[in-house]
Amino acid sequence: MARRLEKRKRPKREDKILHGVNKIAGHVLDDKTIYVISFLKNAKVISGLDYPISEGKEAVVFKARSPNGDVAVKIFKYETSSFLKRSMIKYIEGDPRFPSLRMNYRSLVKLWARKEYSNLKACQSAGVSAPVPLKQRDNIVVMQFLGEKGVPYSRLKELPLEEVDVSKLFEKIVDNMAKLWRKGYVHADLNEFNILTDGERVWLIDWAQSVKKEHPLARQFLEADCRNIAKFFAKNGVDTSEKEVMASVLKQ
Ligand SMILES: Nc1ncnc2c1ncn2[C@@H]1O[C@H](COP(=O)(O)OP(=O)(O)O)[C@@H](O)[C@H]1O
Ligand SMILES: [Mg+2]
Repeated sequence: MARRLEKRKRPKREDKILHGVNKIAGHVLDDKTIYVISFLKNAKVISGLDYPISEGKEAVVFKARSPNGDVAVKIFKYETSSFLKRSMIKYIEGDPRFPSLRMNYRSLVKLWARKEYSNLKACQSAGVSAPVPLKQRDNIVVMQFLGEKGVPYSRLKELPLEEVDVSKLFEKIVDNMAKLWRKGYVHADLNEFNILTDGERVWLIDWAQSVKKEHPLARQFLEADCRNIAKFFAKNGVDTSEKEVMASVLKQ
């Protein structure tokens, strides 16, 4: 009887594969995250994680498969959400009122994932070009995979600009920024790294930090977004400025 129980507890093949990916992705796939991935597989949201596409400070993005084709899975890191930790730790650590500090970090990271998902939803209803959100659970956001044959589209930063119509791309981005503002949001980290493109179409990505107009710093964030976009395109031959981008975005 005991042997049987032991047998039944052995990890399924899928779990073993996940542990393999775990090695590649390092610390991001902790037990809790692996549990959520299993949940997503059981719920048929994904059918398998393939490989990591990108690892940043806050998150790792995987290319994955779903019953309907490729998807991107963004996993927010519990362990190195360093910005949040650094800014909060000295106010909480050692305070007897917060014995379960880890819980609080976890909730913050989950909140971050929830924000990314709901901002992506807002984009959808505003007609802003961004990945279609498919599912969010805990620290994981599943979304449309932007790419071809498993290779993500290029970041604007890496696009060979001599081969494309740069002013068209610029117009499309400004148009998306304006739609977003009209819907009442600012991206708040918009730059040539957070825009994917196939040379013709553009998609704005990386939405966790995006805020609503009512945020006290919204206007400042919008200015920074306009500055980044203007700077990038001015450097690449488009006659524009922060002021001009701002004016186009604010124009109703
Ligand atoms: N939906 C997606 N489809 C394809 N690739 C993606 C997608 N989302 C993100 N990526 C890839 O992962 C990278 C990091 O994603 P991003 O959302 O910007 O997270 P980070 O917070 O790490 O900057 C992107 O630059 C892009 O290469
Ligand atoms: Mg990014």
